[in-house]
Amino acid sequence: MCGIVGYVGPCDAVPILMDGLHRLEYRGYDSAGVAVYHQGTIHVRKTAGRLERLGELLSAEPISGTPGIAHTRWATHGEPSDANAHPHTDPSGKFAVVHNGIIENYRELRRSLIDLGHSFSSQTDSEVIPHLVAVKRAETGDTLEALRLALKSTRGAYALGLITADEPDTIYAAREGSPLVIGIGEKEYFIASDVPALLNRVSRVIYLNDGEVARLTPEGLTVIDSDGRTVRHAAVPIGIAEEAADRAGFETFMLKEIHEQPRVLRSLLDGHVRNGEEIVFDTGTIDRSFLRRVERIMIVSCGTAFYAGLYGKLLLEHLTEIAVECDLGSEFRYRAPKFDRNTLIIAVSQSGETADTLASVRMARGRGAPVLSICNVPGSTLVRESQAVFYTNAGPEIGVASTKAFTAQLMAFALFTFYLGRLRGEIASTQLQELLGALQRVPDAIHYVLNSTALIRGIADKHHAGPSALYLGRRFNFPTALEGALKNKEISYQHAEGYAAGEMKHGPIALISEYMPVICICTATEDELYEKMLSNVKEVQARHGRIIVVANTGDQAAAELAEDIIYVPKVREEFSPLVNVVALQLLAYYAAQARGNDIDKPRNLAKSVTVE
Ligand code: G6P
Repeated sequence: MCGIVGYVGPCDAVPILMDGLHRLEYRGYDSAGVAVYHQGTIHVRKTAGRLERLGELLSAEPISGTPGIAHTRWATHGEPSDANAHPHTDPSGKFAVVHNGIIENYRELRRSLIDLGHSFSSQTDSEVIPHLVAVKRAETGDTLEALRLALKSTRGAYALGLITADEPDTIYAAREGSPLVIGIGEKEYFIASDVPALLNRVSRVIYLNDGEVARLTPEGLTVIDSDGRTVRHAAVPIGIAEEAADRAGFETFMLKEIHEQPRVLRSLLDGHVRNGEEIVFDTGTIDRSFLRRVERIMIVSCGTAFYAGLYGKLLLEHLTEIAVECDLGSEFRYRAPKFDRNTLIIAVSQSGETADTLASVRMARGRGAPVLSICNVPGSTLVRESQAVFYTNAGPEIGVASTKAFTAQLMAFALFTFYLGRLRGEIASTQLQELLGALQRVPDAIHYVLNSTALIRGIADKHHAGPSALYLGRRFNFPTALEGALKNKEISYQHAEGYAAGEMKHGPIALISEYMPVICICTATEDELYEKMLSNVKEVQARHGRIIVVANTGDQAAAELAEDIIYVPKVREEFSPLVNVVALQLLAYYAAQARGNDIDKPRNLAKSVTVE
């Protein structure tokens, strides 16, 4: 999704803005631009394409100055083009704006501005904002007030930065629904849509609330709410180390993040398990008595986090008596879900900024249902709108395809399930010790998988070229199959489908031929489902599918069916997805590499989807 950076202070803004944009590249974008103030004029450079192209443009037609704003755009309204790239200006060129989000009523606003004689140079919804500000500024003579009033006439979501030719040393910012953070330096301020843009610049930040508008000058900061009342914010420490946003010697962020998983999971265990027999969890403002009696949970999330939710449902229903539903955020908000204040809502999100997840949470809160979020980003909108938070604490995830955040979400579900089960007396203390003992083995098992890189790479090299791949799993590993297929399509662009293995004969079996790699997760060895899974694999074999099996080390029966086998250490079936998915992450990774793709920035995808 779009990225915003802004700077006001004594230095030339251009290199600072370009550095910030590079740090936001992981969010996904298709065009970019900067605007700076210099001697009473706003200078804009913008172009479709990657930041390298913007860099070339800036070399050919240099600008410098301060303050400045910059943007990477992920197209929603209007194709990626030079004209649609941000910043956008008003007709006089005095107000320049960068915007994330969608102005839903932009058509009517645009019509009324055209009636006033304005003409537009892009197809974007965003361009109405500088036009509106120019109109309001002429009426009020004050830019902060003009921005507040202009935004009051909009409907939708925005995070934005604005500079004006009338005011040196001043930058404006506002948010509603889309994230925006203000970085506080020495006689300088920054704005950004995401903390990584600020990591090497500041150690303290302010998170604007919805409806707030800010004026930043080297001398200080003024924030007002949507009614014009002054708001005071306390700065908070940024909380993540800069090195967390570096590749640390790995060729990509994704590979680094895949390798971070054992550490992330160990520290989650350390943070929530006391003496190997008790789960520590802060229920925030959700009453423990509510959790003791709750009979229904609804989980909402999108993308990879949705698959974590499916796992959460399976585990919660397996170990507690609670009925659990799991929904995609984009569906939940538009169906007629039946729940009330007696239902616990669990929202799962790496970023805490996903528009559909947030909309579902707001709908739930509107009906009085308490919201617990499983989230990776402190200070995110989701965190601030939840009554309790289970932090996944995976550190910044920069690769667009989610990896460590996913396994951390699975771990969070496991620990939260144990917590609930104990609280409600549904998990006995000896059972908890057994479960914890099994869960503790997961990080080492993942290490083992990480050491199988060469083997997995060889398998990926062999199978990546086909048009399609099928991923099969059952019960706890059905979500694993879905996530494995998602990883593959996200970064290798090979079409892939995840299926419940037992369901395969009701359709996908028609696709199987000697050209179809079928990845079969067969790790439930001591279980009734193991034999059933092997039968499903035989169904594939009979149709000459190319069988790749993920199985427990030494499993001969599985090996006999497979063209290729990835052995993983045996862990208890409930926790096997945390291990198995790492093999599938690596399989997708090396398929993407073999296909020559840009792994950290896959085409068309955005890391954080802040629009509907
Ligand atoms: C985007 C990302 C996915 C992610 C999904 C949900 O589509 O590309 O990797 O799973 O959003 O994001 P969230 O931040 O809510 O987990």
